[in-house]
Amino acid sequence: MPATVIVGAQWGDEGKGKIVDLLAQDSDIVCRYQGGPNAGHTIVVGDETFKIRALPSGIVRGKPCVIGNGCVVDPDVLIGELDEFEQRGRSTAQVYVSGNAHLIMPWHLAIDQASERRLGRLAIGTTRRGIGPCYADKAMRLGIRVQDVLDPKILRQKIEVALAEKNLWLQRVYETEPFDLETVAAQYEGYAQRLRPYVTDTSLYVYNALRDGKFVLFEGAQATLLDLDHGTYPFVTSSNPVASAAATGVGIGAGRIDRVIGVAKAYVTRVGEGPFPSEIEGPAQDTMRELGHEYGTVTGRSRRCGWLDLVALRYAVRVNGIDQLALTKLDVLSHFAEVPVCVRYTLRGGEETRDFPAHQSDFHAAKPVLETLAGWSETLDDCTSVDDLPEAARRYVEFVERELDVEVTLIGTGAERTNVLTRA
Ligand code: GDP
Ligand code: IMO
Ligand code: MG
Repeated sequence: MPATVIVGAQWGDEGKGKIVDLLAQDSDIVCRYQGGPNAGHTIVVGDETFKIRALPSGIVRGKPCVIGNGCVVDPDVLIGELDEFEQRGRSTAQVYVSGNAHLIMPWHLAIDQASERRLGRLAIGTTRRGIGPCYADKAMRLGIRVQDVLDPKILRQKIEVALAEKNLWLQRVYETEPFDLETVAAQYEGYAQRLRPYVTDTSLYVYNALRDGKFVLFEGAQATLLDLDHGTYPFVTSSNPVASAAATGVGIGAGRIDRVIGVAKAYVTRVGEGPFPSEIEGPAQDTMRELGHEYGTVTGRSRRCGWLDLVALRYAVRVNGIDQLALTKLDVLSHFAEVPVCVRYTLRGGEETRDFPAHQSDFHAAKPVLETLAGWSETLDDCTSVDDLPEAARRYVEFVERELDVEVTLIGTGAERTNVLTRA
């Protein structure tokens, strides 16, 4: 399929990076279409581990990589990553950054941190990487874009205009230190020199590639339930991770997308605040966290763990138009004698639903209806095909397919690149 979107179907960290790395083998270009360094995508190749925040995961396979207009770029993080990949023997000569992507500025980081502090108990639990304030400035038409690095005079002017307002906010509202124009201008002029060679009309580049029959992968960051429009607002990120946003986030026609692959863990994790109906109560949550190494890639925070939530996953299938699922980390469930799965929610009035509640208060009050499936104790380390899976593990996958009416075509059995089973 020429244009394939890989989208997170839960609350993030589903293993998107690993699935992109797998499918990148047969792709010509890999594009990020939203988000910024709030993402942390891990790829394990033998004894080497890559933790990627800004670049598309296709960089590990040496594929041309696009950072689309829908992304926000922290130049410090991006340059750090470019240097790291060069040092590790991966060429970055084919990295293309959209001139329309927005730059994360130092005040975005400062405001993200200060606003979370101010919210106190009501904090969202952001990654504090300036994502929300940067997208807010984009919508306010106050943002500074990647293309502004092409002209030092314009760059300085825009920093000056933005700082005039931001420093007032920082001092008067957030009671923190203002930024000095000369310091920020010098810092960003330094970044500009490094970034200029990468700035490209990426919409045209991807359009031409698709026209020529090339295979393009669109790599989602964050996930459906963190989507600004479709997620569990306000406990969401500030961009649109859903699959259709790949079109706007790269600048291609909506009809160009051929296939959507949703990535879901065989259970669920969430990092940060917000409702989470299938969150595990008691020590089994800690067991799951340890077995799955569920600690944030970007912030190191503990991820909250829950049983697979088919109500939320059914919703993700709907709002993304998911054609196929990749079910990752099935191996982590090997250690549970029984595996509960959330098949419905009980709402406030006592009625049950298989559909994701449209109203926030209903979702906050929803209680999971769990169906308990048989577990398996065998490790999945030596499974090289679906036929090698223990019967209960196979049944688990088939149960998910039946409930969602979507095929599970990829199954994750370990963190290493090769630990994926493919089903026809
Ligand atoms: P992403 O943000 O969606 O790319 O996911 P992360 O990289 O943040 O988190 C997924 C974690 O699970 C990483 O540490 C991966 O190395 C690991 N992982 C991915 N797939 C599997 C799998 O099938 N089994 C196990 N045990 N670990 C996996
Ligand atoms: P990947 O791409 C998991 C969460 C944060 C917080 C909320 C808002 O690795 O799956 P933000 O900094 O974006 O304003 O934070 O979103 N969050 C993620 N959770 N994986 C991610 O990315 C995330 N990116 C943001 O924890 O709850
Ligand atoms: Mg992650």
